[in-house]
Amino acid sequence: MANGTSPANSAPGARPPVLSIERASRRFGDVVAVDRVDLAIGQGEFFALLGESGCGKTTLLRMIAGFELPDEGRILIDGQDMSRTPPYDRPVNMVFQSYALFPHMTVAHNVGYGLRQEGMARSERDDRVAEVLSLVELSALAKRKPHQLSGGQRQRVALARGLAKRPKILLLDEPLGALDRKLRERTQFELMALQARTGTTFILVTHDQEEAMTMSNRIAVMRAGRIHQIGPPRQLYEYPNSRFVADFIGSANLLMGEVVGMEAGVVRVRLQSGGQTVAIEVEAGVSFPTGQSVTVMVRPEKMEAGRQAFGGPNELTGEVVDIAYLGDLSIYHVATAGGIKVQVAMANRQHRQGKPLERGEGVHLAWHPSDAVILTE
Ligand SMILES: Nc1ncnc2c1ncn2[C@@H]1O[C@H](COP(=O)(O)OP(=O)(O)OP(=O)(O)O)[C@@H](O)[C@H]1O
Ligand SMILES: [Mg+2]
Repeated sequence: MANGTSPANSAPGARPPVLSIERASRRFGDVVAVDRVDLAIGQGEFFALLGESGCGKTTLLRMIAGFELPDEGRILIDGQDMSRTPPYDRPVNMVFQSYALFPHMTVAHNVGYGLRQEGMARSERDDRVAEVLSLVELSALAKRKPHQLSGGQRQRVALARGLAKRPKILLLDEPLGALDRKLRERTQFELMALQARTGTTFILVTHDQEEAMTMSNRIAVMRAGRIHQIGPPRQLYEYPNSRFVADFIGSANLLMGEVVGMEAGVVRVRLQSGGQTVAIEVEAGVSFPTGQSVTVMVRPEKMEAGRQAFGGPNELTGEVVDIAYLGDLSIYHVATAGGIKVQVAMANRQHRQGKPLERGEGVHLAWHPSDAVILTE
């Protein structure tokens, strides 16, 4: 457990969830692709499923859409059990990673295809297609075929097609994966604006943590079919609940140690390597028994490195072994006297900052007791 975390699986606010997944699993032979997942997503959320390749993101998305049925557990949309409802009867649409556009159809026909299948009258359909094409700013290209479009434009056609039926939930499987970096960044903001304008609940699958953090209001971190933590990006970054999440989201210095005491909301931990004692502030009511093995997590930008001692409660000494100069930031790799390797990120804010640290220099490292998190998993 991390200090400072709040209940993980509840959707924020009092509104009933538009989607509830209750202990849902899906197996393929020996592989448990989705393993007893519980999840509640509120109306209008921009939610991200984040995890490495093969962790079950697409399978979970396909279960929400109805392309995969759960082996156990339930999937409720607006409170109605849809676990066995076929895809076309769910108020859900999916945008596939490959976009899956029909090559021989125009943009407008691609977007209107699902409406036509549904039997919507021609005039209403034309109006709806015009509306969503305008929403994604593709009205001028309505008569083109997919091969006459750029990658980003094809992505918007797929999006328009997903929105045409006005689904309650739009599922997006790595929607920006095929775009180059600059276009991807721009499209992220377009997608966010579109989501805000339509008020549709978006569930985005991605393995890119920056993308998840930029776009979504909450993220579920998945690993091997299970959800490890759910929360707003800031909570996952500042208060991860496990070493896995700490390491997966951003960089983390993970210092192993043992609890040696606790007083007035401060836990003292003796580090395994070096034997120094460090202090970590924890929330009121949280306690750790003496002797417990824990990991102290400190983010690189929360550590300071300097030539002089800082004189605070948390101080290590070491030597700069590597420096990554990134322009805005420098990342200092420091080998501590206790034999741990840590990273310290410092912003290169001002030219008058003084002489930068160099490789081989001896340094002091410090951080504030409230800037570390204790992890037990
Ligand atoms: N139809 C299937 N038959 C057998 N195994 C499957 C099937 N679909 C998925 N799997 C397996 O289930 C696991 C989860 O796959 P899934 O496609 O959900 O992962 P993912 O998180 O979307 O990965 P990626 O980021 O690579 O797309 C994998 O081990 C995969 O090989
Ligand atoms: Mg996938």
